[in-house]
Amino acid sequence: MSEIFNPKKEMFNNPQFGSMEEYKALVADFDNDYEGTWAKFADEKIDWFTPYNKILDESNAPFYKWFSGGTMNVAHQCVDRHLDTKKNKAAIIFEGDNGDKEIITYRELAYRVNQTANMFKNKFDIKKGDRVVIYMPMIPEAAVTMLACAKIGAIHSIVFGGFSAEALKDRIIDASAKLVVTADGAFRKGKPYMLKPVVDTALETGCECVKNVCIVERNGEDINWVSGRDYSYNELIKSESSVCEAEPMESEDPLFLLYTSGSTGKPKGVQHSSAGYILWAQMTMEWVFDIKDNDTYWCTADVGWITGHTYIVYGPLAAGATTVMFEGVPTFPDAGRCWKMVEEYQINQFYTAPTAIRLLHKMGENEPAKYDLSSLRILGTVGEPIDPPAWKWYYEAVGNSNCSIVDTYWQTETGGHMISPLPACTPIKPACATFALPGIIAEVIEENGTPTTTGEKGFMCITKPWPSMIRTIWNDDERFVKSYFGDCKKDGKAVYFTGDGAMVSEDDYITITGRTDDVINVSGHRMGTAEVEAAIKKHDNVASVAVVGKPHEIKGEGIFAYIVLKSDEGIADELEEMKTINQLIKAEIGAIALCDAMAFVPDLPKTRSGKIMRRILRSIVKGEEIIQDTSTLEDPSIVGIIESIVKG
Ligand code: WT7
Repeated sequence: MSEIFNPKKEMFNNPQFGSMEEYKALVADFDNDYEGTWAKFADEKIDWFTPYNKILDESNAPFYKWFSGGTMNVAHQCVDRHLDTKKNKAAIIFEGDNGDKEIITYRELAYRVNQTANMFKNKFDIKKGDRVVIYMPMIPEAAVTMLACAKIGAIHSIVFGGFSAEALKDRIIDASAKLVVTADGAFRKGKPYMLKPVVDTALETGCECVKNVCIVERNGEDINWVSGRDYSYNELIKSESSVCEAEPMESEDPLFLLYTSGSTGKPKGVQHSSAGYILWAQMTMEWVFDIKDNDTYWCTADVGWITGHTYIVYGPLAAGATTVMFEGVPTFPDAGRCWKMVEEYQINQFYTAPTAIRLLHKMGENEPAKYDLSSLRILGTVGEPIDPPAWKWYYEAVGNSNCSIVDTYWQTETGGHMISPLPACTPIKPACATFALPGIIAEVIEENGTPTTTGEKGFMCITKPWPSMIRTIWNDDERFVKSYFGDCKKDGKAVYFTGDGAMVSEDDYITITGRTDDVINVSGHRMGTAEVEAAIKKHDNVASVAVVGKPHEIKGEGIFAYIVLKSDEGIADELEEMKTINQLIKAEIGAIALCDAMAFVPDLPKTRSGKIMRRILRSIVKGEEIIQDTSTLEDPSIVGIIESIVKG
């Protein structure tokens, strides 16, 4: 059994959860009265405009509804309702790449959100239910835009700034967005980079739905302005009123879409609700980060991912906290950037991804010791399984063996944390997400619902609906049911399957073992093999391709492509071929999907029915012994050939 670290309670003054007994008592409350316990929190936490009349509606499963009939508004929940007590408290502390700083109080945030909301209504004719695509850098205007959409009931869909024009275009079209909000660009590693030109390219073909582009001027570089379509945010905002009524939203009205990758097909627009989503965002902020009124909380994610939505913007602000927003990268100007910021702002909770922890460890093992990090109480990690060496360094070098580490397991689809230690409460084991949070019924089961034997891998399922769960895939109810409720059943009823494998130990600790499908986790970001393969197939000389994840020291997994060329004339120059293929990937998806390595092979291991045996390809790239049965392959000899090519 792995080492157990007992919580250091002395760092905590009256934590949310004092002991495992308290945790167990709340779990028991949910066991005894699931809906009633959720209702208790919904009543306590949400500032309802009109009360709901049903807690959980299961009549159209798996299209569950929570708190039906109630109305509220997420921007009101996150900003307006705090104004009586926190008007002058910092809501957002912004630090730019080049060190520029801005502190935005709750009052100032309300002012800007209202002006922006009015601008969307008056200048761009945005109405409740309209989709707004946000393609922005990590600047406060991104958060303001999200909240402005929420204020008037528009549905935002943020596209991560690293995605290409092609990827942006697909997402704009799928959501049929009316407005794109972007910036000229921003700064990275001391230099300006551009976003608006990417939007221009995306809109060149086939985005007729988009009527306008609203541009925040951040880096001041020259950009192209299309007359009648493009408007400057900075100019338009000046004449807008700072008074804006919050649109009353039904609990189930969509708050946002966020596109994510699956194992097959194009990215799916994960649709989240208003009330259920914000309730859990706020509760987990309070429970998992033990957020207190005087705390300064920093999550290093990008708003383009779900972590940025729930744990930079919505969760912290709903909880009335101070959230730090950082434009730059952790290694610029040096590997001490994060620790310098922790010292300067006296950060109490620091939340990042294993990939960043590994990088900072590698680049500056002793860097943390140069700074005063004594304000830290909680260190969070998210996005992929964290390896024990990274965990230990985080715990010892960054946390001075004093902090609680919260290894938070969740997904875009779950809206917020599902499995996580509770600080000052849960005895933690390195690299283990520990236990399901109260209210979340997380079970490791076989396909038919039987719990797995201790120590055996099984399917990580959430067997009861929860308020912040995905409601559907935008425009594709069928795919929603198939993707999440198609694989596992409990008591004959389809249950939510995460796509991950997991294991339960003797003492009931849950360890996530990783995806069971063809999804690759690169630096904590989900990449669909099908998407990457589709991009590579656009190359004229590619006959077939299969991509798999290859363990990578920093990124967790990198992308490895097995490629069969139509003609090997050009193969003398493999490096050139690799370059052009990666250029294609960059144009189709973005730099995050670039392949680390490729192997040009004569054929792929296929079954007689033509199915590519990815598992064999995964074993080869890991240098593992092939234990799979190869006799069913069309040509079993291909395995040895590929092996020798990969080994070089
Ligand atoms: C996938 C979800 C959740 C926000 C960031 C990624 C993996 C996430 C952990 C963790 C082990 C983890 C899973 C999951 N994952 N957190 N603490 N331990 N694996 O969101 O892009 O929706 O990806 O990330 O495989 O399914 P996402």
